[in-house]
Amino acid sequence: MDAALIDPFQRAISYLRVSVTDRCDFRCLYCMSENMTFLPKAELLTLEELDRLCSTFIGMGVQKLRITGGEPLVRRGIMGFFRNVSRHLGSGLEELTLTTNGSQLARYAAELADCGVRRINVSLDTLDAAKFQKITRWGRLGQVLEGIDAAKAAGIRVKINTVALKGFNEDELFPLIDWCAREGHDLTFIEVMPMGEMEDRVGQFWSLMDLRHRIGTRYAMADLSERTGGPARYVRLETGQKIGFITPLSHNFCESCNRVRVTCTGELFMCLGQEDRADLREVMRNGNDDALRAAIREAIARKPKGHDFDYSRREVAGQVSRHMSHTGG
Ligand code: 5AD
Ligand code: SF4
Repeated sequence: MDAALIDPFQRAISYLRVSVTDRCDFRCLYCMSENMTFLPKAELLTLEELDRLCSTFIGMGVQKLRITGGEPLVRRGIMGFFRNVSRHLGSGLEELTLTTNGSQLARYAAELADCGVRRINVSLDTLDAAKFQKITRWGRLGQVLEGIDAAKAAGIRVKINTVALKGFNEDELFPLIDWCAREGHDLTFIEVMPMGEMEDRVGQFWSLMDLRHRIGTRYAMADLSERTGGPARYVRLETGQKIGFITPLSHNFCESCNRVRVTCTGELFMCLGQEDRADLREVMRNGNDDALRAAIREAIARKPKGHDFDYSRREVAGQVSRHMSHTGG
């Protein structure tokens, strides 16, 4: 193995998130417009390039790999990619995981488990079929619930990610918590990020401070000190249930940041909140693995100390120009 990736602030980069497609079979209101134009195929990293990239990072000390999208499971041939990357499990790679909308899980859960996937994150904002259709535009709740069941049956631990939306799922706070407790799923709430077209059509910013406070009206809870190097904070309810909170706009986690992201076009983002990036696709298409490693090291040497998400600034700047479906959340 090469020398580990250490950034200028002595943070070891052990976690890589890779978006494998910008496409999705849903059109969540806070994420995409209904008539999204997606990237031409030639812009995307091929499955071979994705494998080469991930393998290179693993050789440089990445221990945890999360596959994202768009919806990763709609990319053609993606199971072959999972199968290939899983060869690193136990020899460098400690965890292979993905974030999915669940629509394809009924089909793929068993195979994912066979590839060594032990945990997945599934996005689910409501347990009401009509509301589900409203928020995802194209999604069917029943299909996702079947997918989640298939994952559970395959022995994969499920974490539900719920975007908190005022006036949309406020009334489902306890139904969601109780459903996750019954099903044995972990649950994390995500504060919505202002992403352009959403406006006020459905839901609005619902502060997780308020959400937490409301949980406190029913359950005693204690803060957990546990961190994963990312933005999530956890509490434990008196019932034993653990709940996570992700407030992407706060900076309080930058000092322990252990992660970088690669978009589906091979751009390496050193920080979710900043625009600086490195074009690894160009390097991969024109250079050997030494050149690729050198480009990665050079980029990591520029990883910033922290990000500067800030509503006022974003209004002036006119939104961060990337979509979550491109960067992969
Ligand atoms: N704000 C917060 N979360 C978002 N996601 C997509 N767009 C946004 C946004 N604007 C989330 C999805 C999913 C993950 C992939 O990113 O709900 O949980
Ligand atoms: Fe697809 Fe996820 Fe975006 Fe919804 S939030 S449109 S499921 S990528």
